[in-house]
Amino acid sequence: MHIKFDEKKKIFSISTEHSSYLMGLSADGILTHIYYGKKVDEAPELSGVYTDKIKKAFAPVYDKAFPGITTAGTYQEYPTFGSTDYRTPALKAEYADGTKITRLVYEGHRIYSGKPSLSGLPAVYAYSGDEAQTLEITLKDKYSDMSVVLIYSVIKGFDAIMRSAEIVNGGAERIKLYSALSASLDCYNSGFELTYLSGTWARERHIKRIPVSFGNFAIDSKRGASSHILNPFMALSDKGADERRGEVYGFSLVYSGNFTAGAEADDDSVRMYMGINPFDFCWVLEPGGSFQTPEAVLVYSDSGFGEMSRTYHRLYRTRLCRGKYRDAARPVLINNWEATYFNFNEEKILNIAKKASECGIELMVLDDGWFGKRNSDNSSLGDWTVDYDKLPGGIDGLAKKVNALGMKFGLWFEPEMVSPDSELYRRHPDWCLHVKNRSRSESRNQLVLDLSRKDVCDYIVGAVSDILKSADISYVKWDMNRNMSEVGSALLDGEHQGEVAHRYILGLYSVLEKLTADFPEILFESCSGGGGRFDPGMMYYMPQAWTSDDTDAVERLYIQYGTSLVYASSMMGAHVSAVPNHQVGRVTPFEMRGLAAMCGRFGYELDLSKLTGDEINQVKEQTAAYRKYEEIIHKGDMYRLLSPFESDGAAFEFISEDKSRVLLFYFNIKGTPCIPDRRVRLDGLEPEMYYRDTESGRIYSGAVLMNMGLLFPRGADNISRLLSFEKL
Ligand code: DGJ
Repeated sequence: MHIKFDEKKKIFSISTEHSSYLMGLSADGILTHIYYGKKVDEAPELSGVYTDKIKKAFAPVYDKAFPGITTAGTYQEYPTFGSTDYRTPALKAEYADGTKITRLVYEGHRIYSGKPSLSGLPAVYAYSGDEAQTLEITLKDKYSDMSVVLIYSVIKGFDAIMRSAEIVNGGAERIKLYSALSASLDCYNSGFELTYLSGTWARERHIKRIPVSFGNFAIDSKRGASSHILNPFMALSDKGADERRGEVYGFSLVYSGNFTAGAEADDDSVRMYMGINPFDFCWVLEPGGSFQTPEAVLVYSDSGFGEMSRTYHRLYRTRLCRGKYRDAARPVLINNWEATYFNFNEEKILNIAKKASECGIELMVLDDGWFGKRNSDNSSLGDWTVDYDKLPGGIDGLAKKVNALGMKFGLWFEPEMVSPDSELYRRHPDWCLHVKNRSRSESRNQLVLDLSRKDVCDYIVGAVSDILKSADISYVKWDMNRNMSEVGSALLDGEHQGEVAHRYILGLYSVLEKLTADFPEILFESCSGGGGRFDPGMMYYMPQAWTSDDTDAVERLYIQYGTSLVYASSMMGAHVSAVPNHQVGRVTPFEMRGLAAMCGRFGYELDLSKLTGDEINQVKEQTAAYRKYEEIIHKGDMYRLLSPFESDGAAFEFISEDKSRVLLFYFNIKGTPCIPDRRVRLDGLEPEMYYRDTESGRIYSGAVLMNMGLLFPRGADNISRLLSFEKL
């Protein structure tokens, strides 16, 4: 890993273990993109290999001093609005005189050890100075006193480049930013395919793959949260690249709000871009002020999607997630939501906890309904005071009784919201996002608190802290059950209303920073109606997230498979729930529900008193198995062996960090009569070493397991298997 600048050839080179990223300076000072891909020389001979003067029809030349040069055809690193480039700009600014043309030219650069943190924003971090290197390139607008600092960092051991930009107003007048993306790069159009994750509530992050063809294709969120619908991730790959083969370029945004990511292609080039969504965005940059964009994380793999995912998993698990539970074993939990919904009292919760403790479950989580007068979803959000009718001993009393059973206690909150039927709303009707004289649209009978306001953020920190201090609480589920509408703030004047959505996210991050720092012993799990805000930004504060409100084992195979493109198993909350499943009515075997949940952060979400004796025994076995295998599943490398999007089954393999233990989870979803067994080939083993199946005692070489593969049945619906191997 290193970063260099070749003074003579004017080439910046960023090298990771297997990739090179090259940039140059054109004769007129534009920062050009030269190459990103498999390792090449740091400052190669470019004549005959690369040109920044691509011929374009109907393309104006913007400077007579540089004939033949038009940004319409230049491979750029941070394109701007308003001159001869007709593609999506990374930067669009309006100056005090109403003009909008920006022309960024190289001013200087510095290369240094370490990786900077980004003010107010989550970001990948490095441990020591020599673990990371950073390049900052300063570009200056020819027509104003605005500069842009492009920041590129690399960390030893990861084929990843972290990119962001800081826009600085060095002048004496205000500048309005309409677009300030985190990353943009133009490269040769070699016929890519674009992969992204899409879905909806209860069906998040299904894999979609389309050819990149002439035109501009973007995924985005305009909902104020990263959303169930599209995840802030895309990958461009070779045509036909698969899990093991082909070049793949991943783009992931460490941000939880409105985003855009896209690929804009023409005859010769593709522009890939990612950042805050310019939709309804307008940031007023005061004289002397600066605007920091979120971080985009670019990952390169020359060995298909599998390697790309493993890089994201390791990077995000060890250099984005923080706190005690990044590494510490996490408790197996039981959550009462699907067991009781709002209809519970202390006795019911304790009955669940008692049974759970007998099964070895370690944490009892009390979900929605413990506060205010919350007997349904139409009241009390914002009033974080205990409902003594349901819990006569309060949260403290209940926590103590749960603790006496040998279990930890956890609690649900939805702090970013307010119910119109609440004391908080009656006291502060202007504390929610709203626009004067317009209706306040409700969703799930609730409004969104205005986290762009400091007083609202302080209230949330105070109210949540009071409860957390009042009892022995080891876990918090931080929920968020609607998207934004009427995105306005009562505290900002008209000129600043375009800042509200981003200010909200900055406010949220400040609240999470404070609470996670003040309560370092608490395990925080993020949630947004399931996976509505399952993004790297939230992972910086909370090492796991509730993957989806759909707990059906079959649905979960699709959701968890898609999610694993970017996010590690240690981040995906996954629970065994009752059948018929509450979301889709499907009946699946208890074993399959257990194994599907074990591929994530394992837990239960059902009424244990309704289980048969045999099922209770399975709960005990599953909990013990999970305890035994947790380390491999969460810290090991994951290989996707069989895709539910391409077959009737799914298979995941996990290899421990020291490569000595291997787990294989196999699922057949839909049975087919009279069909031969399915061959599943393992991956990532040492071919010349031998591995023993710990149950059957059979011994296979790594070469046999990887090249011949193991046979699994597919003649019936909902078959599941877990095999474990030890290296001899
Ligand atoms: C949505 C979450 O995803 C569920 O798990 C549950 O906590 C409900 N909210 C409670 O209202």
